[in-house]
Amino acid sequence: MKVLSSSEETYRLVDQMRMEGKRIGLVPTMGALHEGHLSLVQRAKQQCDMAIATIFVNPSQFGPNEDFQKYPRTLQNDLNLLADKGCDLVFTPTNAQMYPQGHSTFIEPPSVAEAWEGPIRPGHFRGVATIVLKLFQILPAHVGYFGRKDYQQVAVIRAMCRDLNLPIAIEACQTVRESDGLAMSSRNRYLSPSERQRALGLFRALEAAEKLIQEGCISGRQVEQAMRKELETSLVDSIDYAAIVHPDTLESIETIDSEVVGIIAARLGATRLIDNATFRLT
Ligand code: PAJ
Repeated sequence: MKVLSSSEETYRLVDQMRMEGKRIGLVPTMGALHEGHLSLVQRAKQQCDMAIATIFVNPSQFGPNEDFQKYPRTLQNDLNLLADKGCDLVFTPTNAQMYPQGHSTFIEPPSVAEAWEGPIRPGHFRGVATIVLKLFQILPAHVGYFGRKDYQQVAVIRAMCRDLNLPIAIEACQTVRESDGLAMSSRNRYLSPSERQRALGLFRALEAAEKLIQEGCISGRQVEQAMRKELETSLVDSIDYAAIVHPDTLESIETIDSEVVGIIAARLGATRLIDNATFRLT
């Protein structure tokens, strides 16, 4: 497995792979890798000739009061995990590489960024869209692999690719969970034992929503109330949102008459967790 931190060298290598006719899959990450990230690499391996990962804790997507400084950085372990999965190339740029002195161009994110995470994390999707576009430029892949765990992020990236005519396909991959249902996240390691237990509320709320919809409830409001009740019963510290939304526009749904997505953001102590699930009518 090759590990490169120079964007010029990386571009040359990926361009070379393309000229050789290789199909290239790209998995952007911020490191602190877990099975969720590795499942994306695995999917890239299955569908492409070359699986490439990037590790970069992107400062522009963190708010001033967020965890940029203390975001877990576990590079050597990450590289070992990626090598084990058969990853072909890892791009690990420095801050100075990605944001050189004078860097002042940013992407205005698409409208799907405006709700939910948007107002709670001002500037977050601007930072995500900017870094993802930069990575797509440096590593011109055929397919970009992203996790459904960050449902709105995938919607933002898809819309950006559509709006800017980017020649890359976006694959959204299933959320990988711990055995008790908690969605894997690099931030789970911040949870105290009590918070870890109470964090299950997010998964339980999604299960409650699914059950209600399967039983025939078609009111988005009622399902939202059921999710909130479950979150409160599980003693999460606060709820940022718990909503039933359209899978593409992420607009709130009043009447459930086709596939919908339940999205949740809640806090356990100082840690903010998100989760979601797609519900199909049977
Ligand atoms: P990061 O949080 O490191 O996540 C990297 C990728 O792994 C994202 O596509 C995310 O959705 C996916 N992922 C995280 N947890 C997952 C899980 N439990 N199951 C499946 N996939 C999971 O998301 C980012 O980094 C950044 O915003 C990034 C896109 C790299 C831009 O900086």
